[in-house]
Amino acid sequence: MISPELLRPYPFFASLTDEQIKAIAKIADEKSFPKDSILFKENTSANELMLMLEGAVSLFYSSGGANSSLCTIAPGAIFGVSSLISPYKYTASARATMPVKVVNIDGAALRMMTEADQKLSIVLMRNVAAAVIARH
Ligand code: SIN
Repeated sequence: MISPELLRPYPFFASLTDEQIKAIAKIADEKSFPKDSILFKENTSANELMLMLEGAVSLFYSSGGANSSLCTIAPGAIFGVSSLISPYKYTASARATMPVKVVNIDGAALRMMTEADQKLSIVLMRNVAAAVIARH
């Protein structure tokens, strides 16, 4: 569990209600990874939605060789978005290009919340779309 205050400043959570942010904070944890860690692998179960707090992560296709980098995830960005999109498998791998600190949100618990709260589901999907469009 983390403090809801940690999530509140980030645009991804800005349009959520206090109750929704508190509920998400209950299913979230902070985690650190050293440089070169693999945070998740392509084609594995998408168990976590992540918010980048510090550092940088490269998203890449495991099968694509040296030029397979898709984008860099910087502080404030969300990644692991397949945790909210069926069939809940990561479509790319994530490698820390420097030491990173993230918020890990339990994907299964978040999906259960969206099933019970259709408004939350709509807002999250809208915010996921905006986050992916903003990548470069
Ligand atoms: C994925 O979730 O499928 C890969 C990482 C991302 O695009 O956020």
